[in-house]
Amino acid sequence: MRLLLALPLILQLARAQECPQIPDNDVEMGEPVPMIPEHIPAGCSDYEVLVARGTSEPNYAEGGKFGVIVGDPVVSNLTEVLPGSRGYPVQYPASSSILSVFRGSRDVVDRLVSQSVRCPRQTFALVGYSQGAAVMHAAADDIPRALHSRIKAVVMFGDPALRLGDGSFPSGLQSKVLQNCAEGDPTCDSGRCTYYHLTYIRPEWIEPTVDFLVEKFTS
Ligand SMILES: *[C@@H]1O[C@H](CO)[C@@H](O)[C@H](O)[C@H]1NC(C)=O
Repeated sequence: MRLLLALPLILQLARAQECPQIPDNDVEMGEPVPMIPEHIPAGCSDYEVLVARGTSEPNYAEGGKFGVIVGDPVVSNLTEVLPGSRGYPVQYPASSSILSVFRGSRDVVDRLVSQSVRCPRQTFALVGYSQGAAVMHAAADDIPRALHSRIKAVVMFGDPALRLGDGSFPSGLQSKVLQNCAEGDPTCDSGRCTYYHLTYIRPEWIEPTVDFLVEKFTS
């Protein structure tokens, strides 16, 4: 699914199914830039949020790095209220290639392992939207158990695993999971209106997520 690049088609389908129309001004369109190594933060921080963006979700608009719908608003609001926090953009193409999820999950595991050695006091959160949620599920199976205690929160948006019937995580992580699934989002709930898959940009989803991350990181 190339959600964003297929927007004109989606709009047509949306009209055919009498879905709410996707507002033009909610999502910046353009050619996604798959990976930007200069966006990788250096050194250590108290709190690091690994963000895996959705399929074709642009990650450059308005100077953002983490995806316009979920990652950018989460990271920019979190860093304002939680000193010592920062985002890490998972380095993966977020394309429809069959290797995309695999590359993303490997990057997540590599980042967690290398940062936890380099920065013994750093703790982590995992945030995934759409295909990015699939990345975090795949990564979770490969994250060394010894690192589970360093991961304080796992937040999914529009998680395809819910629709497929099992959105659970390994036991060492499950108690830290927040599942954000909009009613009618075809990716995680029932329904056929892609519109609802694009609503996570709203404060009603972002604000509780930021509160959750702050609480999990600091408790
Ligand atoms: C970001 O934080 C501001 C200030 O608390 C809030 O007004 C705004 O709704 C938040 N943005 C999102 C997308 O939640």
